[in-house]
Amino acid sequence: MNDFRFYNPVRIHFGREAMAQLPEELAGVGKKILLVYGGGSIKASGLYDRVLAALREAGKDVVELPGVMPNPRTEKVYEGIDLCKTHGVDFILAVGGGSVIDCAKAIAVGARTDRDFWQAFFVNWEEAEDAIPLGTILTIPATGSEMDRSSVITNWATGEKNGYDSDLTYPAFSILDPTLTYTLPKHQMVNGVVDTLSHIWELYFSEPDTESVTDALAEALMRSVISATRTALKDPTDYVARANIMWASTFALCGMLNNGKKTDWASHNIEHPLSAVFDVAHGAGLAVVHPNYMKYFCSYAPERYARYAVQVWGVDPAGKTTLAVAQEGIQRTRDFFNEIGAPATLTDLGIPESAIEDLAARTDLSCWAYRELTREDVKAILGMCL
Ligand code: NZQ
Ligand code: ZN
Repeated sequence: MNDFRFYNPVRIHFGREAMAQLPEELAGVGKKILLVYGGGSIKASGLYDRVLAALREAGKDVVELPGVMPNPRTEKVYEGIDLCKTHGVDFILAVGGGSVIDCAKAIAVGARTDRDFWQAFFVNWEEAEDAIPLGTILTIPATGSEMDRSSVITNWATGEKNGYDSDLTYPAFSILDPTLTYTLPKHQMVNGVVDTLSHIWELYFSEPDTESVTDALAEALMRSVISATRTALKDPTDYVARANIMWASTFALCGMLNNGKKTDWASHNIEHPLSAVFDVAHGAGLAVVHPNYMKYFCSYAPERYARYAVQVWGVDPAGKTTLAVAQEGIQRTRDFFNEIGAPATLTDLGIPESAIEDLAARTDLSCWAYRELTREDVKAILGMCL
């Protein structure tokens, strides 16, 4: 097990009654609130009215930033920074999914500096010295942004999708009510499940592969997500299934599964140009890329991939080579994605073969699982995705 630092200050309120904690959380923050949300799902579900009523009850002055798009763009962040500076915002409340929360985090650091937020933080990765505190109400389990320190923003003009990490962008609190996810369209739920599994794989398939608490936790989470997804697809209002999916997605990126591991992120790095250039949903892109990445790389760590096949998919290893067991586990992964209706090819995503060269050129190669990732590897993996 590698040495590690673990820090996570996010207060989680989880469950059917979690929204009841909002007034107490609001009592502890400043008067001027920026309310950040997406394209309208929170209005359709009635959540917007509940949040606004709580804010009014708490005597807050509310400034709104609606319309955060999936794969949130720099323009939206600049709009939010302007609102914060103009109105002297004290606290940001993000209500939605990873896109809304990531946008809120970028605004939080961008509003407390005179530097250009994109160039300073998302390109140069300079240290942020201050940030407006934020809280979240999560409506789609997927990214883990509600309990992590990351924000991912797309610069549509340059075709870049970059991330920024800072301890200052941990939310102060996050409200996780699984019943808020009942309204998710099936494909959005599936995208979230794929993203959750992909996060676990980015951490699990990396050295060291010696026996560890971290890997055992990862395997348990994967089994829970797979079984809960099957249940929730049959009955979208199955509370236990929705609750397990929600907590697993949050847990996957809260830092616990990084502990002692090198971590990879190659599949995420390969996916990011897909969503930056073609605006595909992050989870949909991963559903195409990650199983092919596994297929391509499994011969460099056959024991680890075979362990995954046995522990997560129940593959019987009797009479098979280690590599054959590993490959069976990867096939089961693809079969599961097909079963739940996740996309399988670049064609499914509307991405032509002619784009591969450019997408590979845009891929950040600073990742490492069992060996270095090269530009040729990326081209070969994207070729397998056709
Ligand atoms: O915009 P609205 O109308 O709210 O609709 C959203 C959106 O269209 C809808 N939705 C959310 N909750 C709903 C709902 N519809 C009905 N009922 C509900 N309860 O779902 C759509 C997708 O939402 P979005 O926030 O884009 O999804 P997600 O949470 O998957 O976020 C994706 C973004 O997060 C980044 C991705 O790259 C992508 O930009 N990531 C962030 C990470 C992080 N901060 O740590 C890590 C991830 O690997 C990822 O890169
Ligand atoms: Zn992800």
